[in-house]
Amino acid sequence: MLRLARPLSLWSRNTARSAKAQRSEVQHSLCSDVLILPALGSDKRHFCVGAAAMSRPKVLITRADIPQKALDMLNEKCEVDMWPESFPIPREQMLKKIQGKDAIFCLLTEKIDNEVLDAAGSSLKVIGTMSVGYDHLSLEEIKKRGIKVGYTPGVLTDATAELTVALLLATSRRLFEAHEELLNGGWGKCAWSPLWMTGWGLAGSTVGILGLGRIGQGVMQRLQGFGIKRFLYSGRSRRPEEEEKGAEFVPFDTLLKESDFIAVTCALNDQTRDIFNEEAFSKMKKSAIIVNTSRGGVIKQDALITALKTGQIRAAGLDVMTPEPLPSDHELTKLPNCTLIPHIGSAETTTREGMATLTASNIIAGLADQPMPARLC
Ligand code: NDP
Ligand code: DGY
Repeated sequence: MLRLARPLSLWSRNTARSAKAQRSEVQHSLCSDVLILPALGSDKRHFCVGAAAMSRPKVLITRADIPQKALDMLNEKCEVDMWPESFPIPREQMLKKIQGKDAIFCLLTEKIDNEVLDAAGSSLKVIGTMSVGYDHLSLEEIKKRGIKVGYTPGVLTDATAELTVALLLATSRRLFEAHEELLNGGWGKCAWSPLWMTGWGLAGSTVGILGLGRIGQGVMQRLQGFGIKRFLYSGRSRRPEEEEKGAEFVPFDTLLKESDFIAVTCALNDQTRDIFNEEAFSKMKKSAIIVNTSRGGVIKQDALITALKTGQIRAAGLDVMTPEPLPSDHELTKLPNCTLIPHIGSAETTTREGMATLTASNIIAGLADQPMPARLC
């Protein structure tokens, strides 16, 4: 018999298979470390996890639909335990499977809090999140326990900035409403009416950006060609380089009062949670349009719904909301002046591969006590 120091899930990953086949193989490899392959003549081949594999660091991956290149990187260096579904791992499974793991490859769908850290115990050394946002991680507690965290800044900036501009245009020029009218016969009823489906242009407007970080700057850079009159921004710190390009640092209140369009590109934290609340909407122009590609929690959603229904503001475009996934019959989906897309800011093919491989590199380097390419803490 031939013994290979490699679990089946690792050994078989290079071949093209259906998702179902992959799942059953992975499940097999998770519950059994030995597989007897069909006999080839009298030569029975016996694959098992040998001593070498056992000594490799153990990594939990919280879902199966991760770009292959990142899986290959991890499989080469680690003993991988991958949740075999294209859906986030259920919480109770994560609590079970994280026990004894050296690292976790997680996404924004997994809340890594005290309960998870306690379940992991002292073996957990590295958390690699396939996201630049880290509001799902209890950072203080993670730091206290000396666990390293890697994340994905930069690789998704272009994709997310691009999407933010697309959402701004889709909302201001009412693209989804117009598409719906084409499908429901509305176009036939008015046949190019001069007053129909009119939106609001960006030229000559004031654009406010909350959070002029990587993505916020990317949005401003992309909007430079649209004839914007003023760019305002708010945040904790000034950005002199961006001011040289025309951005004006203003208090949040000024941003609310003077902006025709507001792009929300900040991180979600205790200071930004619900920052767009009743009071904030009451200060905005009635003609204002807000787009949010940061996190749903930055906007107090009930207050937004009221503002949209009562005409306190004109329209909103949301890539992020609360909860996610948003139920398809949620009140927000019924508002014609609300453009909704399902958290696709970074959903661009090469970007997602870049995010996944950066996460894998972070984990591999962190486990090897080498500098992580993008270490958060
Ligand atoms: P950066 O760290 O470069 O930028 C974050 C920005 O948030 C900074 O400008 C920062 O301002 C601002 N900010 C943080 N705290 C506050 C505060 N209390 N008040 C005001 N502003 C604050 O991150 P990125 O640009 O790379 O990403 C930003 C966010 O976008 C992520 O955290 C994530 O939540 C979200 N995101 C969403 C995606 C999607 O698919 N929709 C994709 C990628 C990211 P300052 O520098 O002054 O502290
Ligand atoms: C992030 O990275 O924080 C996004 O929300 C997903 O790309």
